Amino acid sequence: MRKILILILLALGRQSFAQKSDPYLGIIPAPQSVKKTAGEFRITPETNLLTDSPTNRAVVYLTNYLKKNGLSVSVTDLNTIDKGHAFLKNSIVLATNFKGDMAPEGYELTITTNQATIHGHGAGLFYGVQSLIQLVHNTNPGYATLPCATIKDEPRFPYRGMHLDVVRHYFDINFIKKYLDVMAMYKLNNFHWHLTDDQGWRIQIMKYPKFTEVGSKRAQTKIGDFKGNNNDLYDNTPYEGYYTQDQIRDIVAYAHDRFINIVPEIEMPGHSQAAVAAYPEMSCDPTKTYKVMETWGVSNDVYCPSPTTFKILEDVLREVMELFPGRYIHIGGDECPKATWKASSYCRQLIADSALNNEEGLQSYFVRHMERFINNNGRSMVGWDEILEGGLAPNATVMSWRGEAGGIAAAQQNHDVIMTPGSGGLYFDHKQSGTNQEPLSIGGNAPLSKAYNYNPIPAVLSKEAQKHVIGVQANLWTEYIATPAKAEFMLLPRMLAMAETGWTTEGNKDYKNFSEQRIPHALAMLDAAGYNYRVPEALGTEDTLFNGAKHSIELTPLVEGAKIYYTLDGYAPRETDLQYKEPLIFTIPAGKYIDFQSITITPSGKRSIVKTTRMKN
Ligand code: ACM
Repeated sequence: MRKILILILLALGRQSFAQKSDPYLGIIPAPQSVKKTAGEFRITPETNLLTDSPTNRAVVYLTNYLKKNGLSVSVTDLNTIDKGHAFLKNSIVLATNFKGDMAPEGYELTITTNQATIHGHGAGLFYGVQSLIQLVHNTNPGYATLPCATIKDEPRFPYRGMHLDVVRHYFDINFIKKYLDVMAMYKLNNFHWHLTDDQGWRIQIMKYPKFTEVGSKRAQTKIGDFKGNNNDLYDNTPYEGYYTQDQIRDIVAYAHDRFINIVPEIEMPGHSQAAVAAYPEMSCDPTKTYKVMETWGVSNDVYCPSPTTFKILEDVLREVMELFPGRYIHIGGDECPKATWKASSYCRQLIADSALNNEEGLQSYFVRHMERFINNNGRSMVGWDEILEGGLAPNATVMSWRGEAGGIAAAQQNHDVIMTPGSGGLYFDHKQSGTNQEPLSIGGNAPLSKAYNYNPIPAVLSKEAQKHVIGVQANLWTEYIATPAKAEFMLLPRMLAMAETGWTTEGNKDYKNFSEQRIPHALAMLDAAGYNYRVPEALGTEDTLFNGAKHSIELTPLVEGAKIYYTLDGYAPRETDLQYKEPLIFTIPAGKYIDFQSITITPSGKRSIVKTTRMKN
């Protein structure tokens, strides 16, 4: 362990210059206010952790973190000691009992040469701990240093979410925990767990075992881009996976320890082909044979708005609410094709009997029915913005994904809104650059800068309506993400950008500072913690054409400790090529060109895409 600590400390030590020059001291998301003061505080094995709340989750988290990094500090209950005692020196103080106001989830972190003190309640104390951990920069083995400063902080939005689709591809509970870990590091507080869809049902339901016996398995999976050339190719490999209720309880507790609420999503009335494969009586044609969908897109095999369907879904949600204690139950509601309902005499009759206008009215009828049930059980319903179709259910919270229009309309009707528009760079299944060097993705282009620059408050909303925008979320759909490594690659570092949007005021956001001063250290920390991520191209590289006789190149890697290699021979650079060390000046003969191609490679071997500047005279 000590060896690992030394490695991490050495890796992190190099960046103290950047930390010094950065107004936010490297913290992501950027705090409300940071006042730097002179000196540093050292955490050593002799440091005492003093707290008025020894079993507090934030206290447990910090002691575990320090222990894992070779610094086992002793924990003392502040209530049991004389506060004037000399051993208040060299201490970390975590305090929940104090006078004065603190915003929800807010904290104050004060570091002097003697002491690091965090004041905060609940999640606030935990977020103070996260900031403290991000401040740990070390140059020596055996102790950790924190720069002296006073930080006052609170979030911009109460809802800061990250979604994961575990249907198109299944991710085991170890990965779910790793996902929650990285969310907690960046102060995200809602995990939206997309548990059911056309391609699988991934939550055990005791009363209806076929949901997982049948619905969690598909016979094979589409290969490649389903809209592309090899449309009819499948892998001929059965695919399956689900979470038992015991596993879910374990995940819920794990999330709770990190102040993360889980928003479970059970899709209805569309995206339900796996469910009707298990229980055809929930469809409008129970005589038909259904199978779990093997390709991507949207299925026409949707639930029928019948008493049987409602009865089963209510039973399902009863078990879901038993498992997930949070306020929100997500019912999906997106992309429900109406063809099957149009062809159904039952549905046509229901529309007439219930004085509905059309199938959109039927969608609203369905959603309102489920909302009544959810509300009667003391919970709140969330749905994608299609739940506006045919009239919004009375208390629904809307997730605006098809741009902001749905969110705007809902906020204007006094409904709470969570902004998660693909057009705002918050669909992390979109690729991360416009080049052809990104892995297969669903399409779209959402580079880090786009994810960062999104502002969840639309200017068209009145001040009053703006208050209904309770937060922001990014979504990770996994049609083309079959492995944890690719999920992390698509998630990071974009998730850090979205976390800053959720936490930091618009006035404190600064993409240049974020991407050039804070991201390099954050990526080194994530590397040390075992995460994969997309390596940003070095600063100063551009895919561009330069015209002229003399061209200078000046590059900076955007991952701490990474090296840049380049070629001039037209071949893609690798670590066996020339290493960039200092600014270069090229003289280009008249009528000729040279391609300067560069790549960033991190100490752990992660590689950026190749950037090319054609220098032509
Ligand atoms: C969605 O992306 N269909 C919500």
